Amino acid sequence: MMTDTMAACGGREETRIDMALAARGYPIVIGEALLPSAGPRLKDLLPGARFAVVSDANVAHLHLAPLKASLESEGKFLGSAIVAPGESSKSFPVLAKLCETLLELGVERGDCVIAFGGGVVGDLAGFAASILRRGVRVVQMPTTLLAQVDSAIGGKTGIDTKQGKNLIGTFHQPSLVLSDVSTLSTLSEREFRAGYAEVAKYGLLGDADFFAWLEENWRDVFAGAPGKRRHAVETSARAKADIVMADELEVSGTRALLNLGHTFGHALEAFAGYSDRLLHGEAIAIGMRLAFTYSLECGLCSAEDATKAEAHFRTVGLPTEISAIPGDKPTLGEMLRLMAQDKKVKGGKLVLVLVRGIGQAFIESNVSMEQLTDFLKRECARA
Ligand SMILES: NC(=O)c1ccc[n+]([C@@H]2O[C@H](COP(=O)([O-])OP(=O)(O)OC[C@H]3O[C@@H](n4cnc5c(N)ncnc54)[C@H](O)[C@@H]3O)[C@@H](O)[C@H]2O)c1
Repeated sequence: MMTDTMAACGGREETRIDMALAARGYPIVIGEALLPSAGPRLKDLLPGARFAVVSDANVAHLHLAPLKASLESEGKFLGSAIVAPGESSKSFPVLAKLCETLLELGVERGDCVIAFGGGVVGDLAGFAASILRRGVRVVQMPTTLLAQVDSAIGGKTGIDTKQGKNLIGTFHQPSLVLSDVSTLSTLSEREFRAGYAEVAKYGLLGDADFFAWLEENWRDVFAGAPGKRRHAVETSARAKADIVMADELEVSGTRALLNLGHTFGHALEAFAGYSDRLLHGEAIAIGMRLAFTYSLECGLCSAEDATKAEAHFRTVGLPTEISAIPGDKPTLGEMLRLMAQDKKVKGGKLVLVLVRGIGQAFIESNVSMEQLTDFLKRECARA
């Protein structure tokens, strides 16, 4: 079982969520202004280890200095490896260069890689750590909302290939997730909003009370109101941890619930070329709206709940329609082809995460292709 503790650290409160995965368990620590004290904390956690920081150029420019100074003050800083910001860094060439840089910095078997950045850095650095010297430890220090509530937790690492996103990777659980919520204040509003789609997802998939809280408090969460933003991050991180603990390696299917909206969303993201044209969270917001509308059409979900979900996305400024994608739009044929490449296709059959209402997602492996095609035909025609 997981326990939460509120502990005063240097006069500041922080929340600790224990990811209970036997030998692979680790704490998720969430708080404000955690970077300046990261050095002593990491030294206590992994005595004897030295630390190499992997980051991207944006995050390094904004936030690396206090982390570096704190590690240096403990004599534990091996150096840093900085990659270009953006999805294109999740590639074989960048991975190869990163592994060589980490070896040149002198990372040994007992040392640790710190993934300091958004989901791109987390996935890339986590993967590098999992294969470097047959596996060194990694600490995830996420700096985007998406990474703090989702990608840094649960141990999935990976890179993209021309065949698709995240098709090459490993499960490599971190030794610690250290989420400094203060770093989110430098995030662009668009990136914050895209990450918020994943926050809302936890409410929509399994926690109606949290969704209701978000409906009431989203403005404060966006504005960075003390307490409220942290509450949103903590509740989301706890939800993700609960699901990972129930199904660490995505065997029983529980972990697939996290993919609410993702089969539709991934297809839209792939269509838009994984670019700034459509951010992951924006694609997922459209995908979740489609999942709710499709569930409504299947007679699974009430119109009231489908409308509520859609209205919240609209209110916070997230897209809900395929027509919101700038430039050309996918045809029905393109949507079906891209959805068929989804990781959740099993034996050629599409698996969707659908809903019986807000907070009641489930996995539907018996999807009627005829009904889905008819639905998508109408959705694509609206674009
Ligand atoms: N491993 C998983 O379980 C998992 C889950 C969901 C998503 N992902 C992956 O996460 C990636 C997306 O992550 P993301 O949305 O964090 O994108 P990202 O890492 O590209 O970060 C988005 C942008 O924000 C910048 N940035 C990061 N932190 C900042 C800060 N504090 N202030 C200012 N700018 C900052 C980055 O430089 C980048 O330009 C995708 O590759 C996706 O596949 C992985």
